[in-house]
Amino acid sequence: MDYQKLIERAKEARKLSYSPYSHFPVGAALLTKDGKVYLGANIENASYPLCMCAERNAIYQSYLDGVRKDDIVAIAIVADTPNPCSPCGACRQVISELLRTDADIIMTNLKDETTVVKVKDILPFAFSEEDLK
Ligand code: THU
Repeated sequence: MDYQKLIERAKEARKLSYSPYSHFPVGAALLTKDGKVYLGANIENASYPLCMCAERNAIYQSYLDGVRKDDIVAIAIVADTPNPCSPCGACRQVISELLRTDADIIMTNLKDETTVVKVKDILPFAFSEEDLK
């Protein structure tokens, strides 16, 4: 699947966002090697810290279906931002553990301005499982 199609799926996912507090819907679409796509959107709560980002919902959804890091090719993220939408710090931490270092992060906005970066480039000095040994 080409990345433009994946971006379109992320835009679809964004429409499923529940974001009555921020009014900032975000969509994500995760692509596996065998061409499966898992969608995520941000889901908010009146208890604000419980809000969950689009990226983590997509990643967790894929893991719940048996997907693991070696299966994941890319994740696309879209929001109505002036520049391509960048994953928050918490999502970077999760991405750095659950996706391969060479997987692509496709950041985009509603104008289709797109930046693609590798997982290994988004969180230098990440805390990881190695630190727990
Ligand atoms: N949000 C995401 O879903 N992903 C990001 O990477 C940035 C922030 C959500 C969280 C919250 O529901 C809203 O956007 C405003 O921060």
